[in-house]
Amino acid sequence: MPERTKFLLSDDQIPTAWVNVLPLLKEPLDPPLDPATRKPIGPEALAQIFPMSLLEQEFSPLPEIDIPGEVLDIYRLWRPTPLYRARRLEKALDTPARIYYKYEGVSPAGSHKPNTAVAQAYYNKQAGIKRLSTETGAGQWGSALALACRMFGLECTVYMVKVSHEQKPYRRMLMNTWGAEVFASPSTRTEAGRAVLAAHPDSPGSLGIAISEAVEDAATHADTNYALGSVLNHVMLHQTVIGQEAKQQMALAGDSPDVVIGCFGGGSNFAGIALPYVPDKLNGSAVRLVAVEPAACPSLTRGKYTYDFGDTAKLTPLLKMYTLGHDFVPPGIHAGGLRYHGASPLLSRLLKDGVIEARAYTQLPVFEAAVKFAQTEGILPAPESSHAIRAVFEEAEAARQEGKPRAILFCLSGHGHFDLASYDAYLNGRLQDFEHPGAAIAEAMEALP
Ligand SMILES: Cc1ncc(COP(=O)(O)O)c(C=O)c1O
Repeated sequence: MPERTKFLLSDDQIPTAWVNVLPLLKEPLDPPLDPATRKPIGPEALAQIFPMSLLEQEFSPLPEIDIPGEVLDIYRLWRPTPLYRARRLEKALDTPARIYYKYEGVSPAGSHKPNTAVAQAYYNKQAGIKRLSTETGAGQWGSALALACRMFGLECTVYMVKVSHEQKPYRRMLMNTWGAEVFASPSTRTEAGRAVLAAHPDSPGSLGIAISEAVEDAATHADTNYALGSVLNHVMLHQTVIGQEAKQQMALAGDSPDVVIGCFGGGSNFAGIALPYVPDKLNGSAVRLVAVEPAACPSLTRGKYTYDFGDTAKLTPLLKMYTLGHDFVPPGIHAGGLRYHGASPLLSRLLKDGVIEARAYTQLPVFEAAVKFAQTEGILPAPESSHAIRAVFEEAEAARQEGKPRAILFCLSGHGHFDLASYDAYLNGRLQDFEHPGAAIAEAMEALP
């Protein structure tokens, strides 16, 4: 028998419920605060831009939430996703470590993002909403929502960070093909966008600014809601299909991970792979859960755990999270999906409580790892996902030095087929490492509420 490379599940093995770790926290999460009064708010205050069903999930005390049949029907277009044993990479790294990766790039949009986009579009459709507005950085989330809206017959408006809008025309075309309208942000369509343009006509945009625009659009149109691709509890929840499948597949491989790794922007793919392991961890399992972020935007490793706005125009509720300050505009590194000043409040708490850990890398070693991965395993990873690969290399090297095996599981959150310009820049020596933007962080921290 040849050694197995792929561990596949059948259509009927897609998880039928999402895993909610909120009820497992030692203390309940700190509530969101009203941006004006700074008083705690409940679901009702957010009902202007989110359907009640998603808000119930946001604050749910239930350990599991059933996945609706219509969402499962769409998940079946690409789920269960494959789990691979990276045997060729193991050889190339000369490591005794066993490396596994859960590949989310097989979705039509090319990443894990449709796992929540489909759920969010479904619940909004049920609530009678006609259109969803959102922001997108590199375009992964925007394409996922464009796809999901199309599946449920909703209109979709995407505010795309201007620098990506210019650098990634093909992502925009993909969104247009699925029927979404896409605007470069800051745009002249919203108060928030016009204010930024008045002060900084050449603003490259940021996720914080684009969120302000999308939230304003939803708040000023009765038939329109807002959808967020990361950060919020219900998004983390929807992504837990990833880790639940991975657990079944690791069992097929007769193995279990010593360390679980995911890259970290707002936290959703990391939540997807790691949260299903949190109950085990709280019950004494020694598994390590490692989130990996860019050193150019280091919210978890250099941010402050405090209340902050989710956006630049201070329209969103205040969330207790690790943050670099809502005014922080990160350098234009090529992992656009990791350029967010904040972090999921749920994962922030798990980091604070020592349940998960975090690391940061600069982009050159990340691209070096990405190219080695592509050259051994074949798949071209998204620059975001490649942060996780860098951490895998570090773990594999540690195993080699100790001369001891260890099982490493990571989430390969997406493919990099729309990121070839950044690979080209790397291969031709045009990519730079950014120093820790210490001064920019200090300046943005001063504006914390
Ligand atoms: C492929 C990919 N991975 C990871 C991320 C980071 O987001 P999150 O931390 O929510 O998974 C993004 C964001 O756009 C992405 O496109």
